[in-house]
This record gives sequence, structure tokens and C-alpha cells, in this order.
Amino acid sequence: RLLIIDFGSQVTQLIARRLRELNVYCEIHPFQKVDDAFLTEFAPKAVILSGGPASVTTQGSPRPPAKVFELGVPVLGICYGQQVMMQMLGGHVESGHGTAEFGRAYVSPSDDRLDIFNGWFLESGADGKAREQVWMSHGDHVSKIAPGFKVYATSSGAPFAITADTTRHFYAVQFHPEVHHTPNGKTLFENFVKLAGFTGDWTMAAYRDEAIKTIREQVGDKQVICGLSGGVDSSVTAILLHEAIGDQLTCVFVDHGLLRLNEAQEVVKMFRDNYKIKLIHADESDLFLGELDGVSDPETKRKIIGRLFIDVFQKYANEIEGAEFLAQGTLYPDVIESVSFAGGPSVTIKSHHNVGGLPEKMGLKLVEPLRELFKDEVRALGTELGLPASFIGRHPFPGPGLAIRCPGEITREKLAILQKADAVYIDQIRKHGLYDDIWQAFAAILPMRTVGVMGDGRTYDYALAIRAVTSVDGMTADTYPFTHEFLGETMTRIINEVKGINRVFYDVTSKPPGTIELE
Ligand code: XMP
Repeated sequence: RLLIIDFGSQVTQLIARRLRELNVYCEIHPFQKVDDAFLTEFAPKAVILSGGPASVTTQGSPRPPAKVFELGVPVLGICYGQQVMMQMLGGHVESGHGTAEFGRAYVSPSDDRLDIFNGWFLESGADGKAREQVWMSHGDHVSKIAPGFKVYATSSGAPFAITADTTRHFYAVQFHPEVHHTPNGKTLFENFVKLAGFTGDWTMAAYRDEAIKTIREQVGDKQVICGLSGGVDSSVTAILLHEAIGDQLTCVFVDHGLLRLNEAQEVVKMFRDNYKIKLIHADESDLFLGELDGVSDPETKRKIIGRLFIDVFQKYANEIEGAEFLAQGTLYPDVIESVSFAGGPSVTIKSHHNVGGLPEKMGLKLVEPLRELFKDEVRALGTELGLPASFIGRHPFPGPGLAIRCPGEITREKLAILQKADAVYIDQIRKHGLYDDIWQAFAAILPMRTVGVMGDGRTYDYALAIRAVTSVDGMTADTYPFTHEFLGETMTRIINEVKGINRVFYDVTSKPPGTIELE
């Protein structure tokens, strides 16, 4: 296994992700934890020193133990990791002097080539010199390299962009090969792990076993509660926990009556009957719909749902004897966002639905087994745990559910119409084989009635908006370009099959300026 020593960079997890993509098993450990004894016990086959926000030029800045360089294994230092390596091995690092670089940069190789850069420098710049695009983010720079090292590439701001001691297999790069903006970064990791003797035989199955072991160690014989929404993240969390601790897990599924057609029954059936997980179906639709009665302001709706959700969850959770842990399907992007944007000057566009703050209030400790993973990795883990593909590939569904797809006042009548119309629309998309090309598709019932004619009669019914977008992360989105035939056929099906709708609009608004949901 490979050891990543973390010096606190925002992107350390991306190193792990790149290695997992190469089927190499690695673990990230904070520098404070890594001492000589730890290294002996861990016995890494290779070590990567991450970037970090500190400056090696300040007293007391983080260091790995010197033993890292005596293990006889390859070491790769990235950014801060490069500087700390130079400093500890006898080189020198300086701050500032106008050589800070942030953002895209190009590195050009010297005449000597390094094996771990096979596949690099195939492109040339305007001056005809070979170069490679990389992402830089550093204020300090190495001003003198350590004995035994040679320079293999430079950039305009970093005369020692790539250095190495090929005898000891120490490699030091000033840029961040782990980020997306270093397009060939994965090749570098691939060469590095090959050199360290990894064969790339690690799989999600191994990750699952490791996660199960960690959960068992953390939880012991205590009881765990898990809020299950039926979404991929909470489902994978629940199944993983169930594999790890069986009946010590109880799931609470809060049914606010704002779910899609048959969704509640499907979730209950799958988790209770198929997976044999202890599940409380908190059917509180009367409570939610009662409190939402007559409310049409979007933020008020969101606030009511958020508050009730917490109350209800807490009420059911309190009934679970001896619970000490709360399991959550927090993903790595949620972790980074909440760290880097905490307290930032951002404007509330919508009050997002979450149960943040709840664990402290209830005196529960958190179990977050997906904290290191990205969405596509969670899906891979779900597949590994036997979740059906149709379930894993499901479009995102927001916590407040259909409430935010029913602008204006919510009534049971409107919800029932919306559930049916949405099901026909999604069925139509699946039948045309478009479901997986679309990031999110849904119907919304509009707060108006319009006149129509069906047969020989006049109708005066609700109008429906249908929406479909492509997106990478939900932050921005484009309208999906359905053909007119598809839209025409869908309109006909919805109006024929769903009583109460006599008009269908296709929402062509991108995000921005629109948001994905209508409220
Ligand atoms: P918007 O409407 O803000 O949505 O463009 C972006 C993505 O987030 C989902 N969404 C939510 N998810 N709780 C959630 O769990 C919420 O309160 C919430 N509001 C929006 C939305 O479905 C889309 O995928």
C-alpha cells in the first residue's frame, strides 16, 4: 500500500482518487500522526507528500519524520511536499520574490528525461520547445536543490519545477499533478506507482472490506441511526453499515408525503425486505402537508420542511434505545465545500435541506463512511454492494421533494396529478433510452389553469412544466435538446394518461439564469 502524508492541502483527496482510478490502494494520514513507529507499522511501498497551506520557511512548520527518506521506497513530493523534501534533504526554500504562481503554467523539460514522465512533453509551445500544461499554486519556491537531485523541468516561475534523485527514487514537483487542470497528471501517477512495484490489482471490493473494518472499529457494539432518503448516498451508507454491524443499525425513513409515485413503498420494500435492514417508516405526510397548507412562498416552504424533518427525525431517533452514532452519506465534495466556503460571503439562493447541527443537539457521534469518495465512486461502491443499476443511476431528487416542484400552494390533488405526470414523463424518457444522457429530469405542476378542448368538450385544467438538464455537478446546467417529435409524443401521453393536465410546457431555461428546481 501507498502512504499519502497530508499537509492540509484542499486537494489531497484528489491524489487518493487518482490512485484509486489506477487500482492502487492508498491511505491518507495527517502529518501529525505519522511518526517512526507509524511508518514501521504501515510499511508503505511508496510515499507521497501532499501540498499544504504552510510555508516551510516558518519555524515549526509541518515536517514528515526523516525516516520517510530512509525507508528505501520511492517518495513523491508535491508542492509543499516538494519544498519540505528539499529543505530536509539539504536544499533551500525561499518565500515570495515575485515568483509566486497560481493557475495554469507550462513546464519545459531539460535534456535528461525521467521515466516517471513517460508520456509527458509531447506538445510544443510557440517557441517550438516541448512543454506540458500543469496547475501551479505556490508562493514559496525552492531556491537550491538538495544534494543528489537534478533538475528535469522548469517553468517561468519555478526553476526547479521537476527535480529528482533517481538513485534514491525521490521525485519532487512544484505543481499539482492530482488536479484536473494538469491534464496529464494521471500518467505521472501511473508511472510513479509502476516504478514502486504496484500492479494495479486493488478494487472497490477491497475498499468495501476496508470500510467495513473501519466502521466496526469505530462503532464497537453501539447502536447506530441512519437517516435514509432513498437517494444513492444514504442508501449506500445504510447498506455498508448493515454489512458491517447488522442489527446494530436502524434506519429512519422520513416520508413527508412529497415523494415520487410509489417511491415510499419501493424504498421500504428494498431495504426492509431485500436487505433485511431494520427500518422505521416515519409516515408523517399528514403533519408535513398540514403545516404546508396555504403556504406558497418558496423559502417558507423550505423552512417548514427543514424544521419538521429535524423534529420528526429526532422523535423517531429518540425511540431507538442506546443510539450513540448517526450515520450520514457525506461525500468528499461536501467536505471541501463546507470547509472552504464556511462563513464565506455567499448569498442564500435557496435554504438547502440538511440535518447539519443535529448530531450535536442529540449528543450523537458521526459515522461518515463515504467521506473520502466522489459521487461516481459511491456509485461503484453501490454496485459492489449489489444495488441495482437502475437505482444507482437515478437522477438526483431534492430533500424537500415535490414541494419545490409545485409552485404556489400545495394541495393533495395537485401532488397526486404531479406524481402521475412525472411518472409518465420519466417512463417516456426511459423508453427512448435517454435517461442516462440526462442529469436530471422531472415534471412540475404550475399554479395556473388554462382552457383546452378535448373531444367536443371544453377543459379547464392544470398546466405542467417538464424539465430536463445536463450538468456535471448541479452548479450549472444546460437544457436537454429533445427533438420536437419526442416532446410532441410526451405531451400527448401526459395529457391522455393523466387526468387534470391539459397543457404541457417544456422549460428551456439553463442554469444560470434559472435554477434546476422551480423553487
Ligand atoms: P438548484 O435548484 O439549486 O438545484 O439549481 C441544484 C441541485 O440541487 C438539488 N436541490 C436540492 N437537494 N436539498 C437537496 O438535497 C435541497 O434542498 C435541494 N434543492 C435543490 C436539485 O434537485 C439539483 O439537483
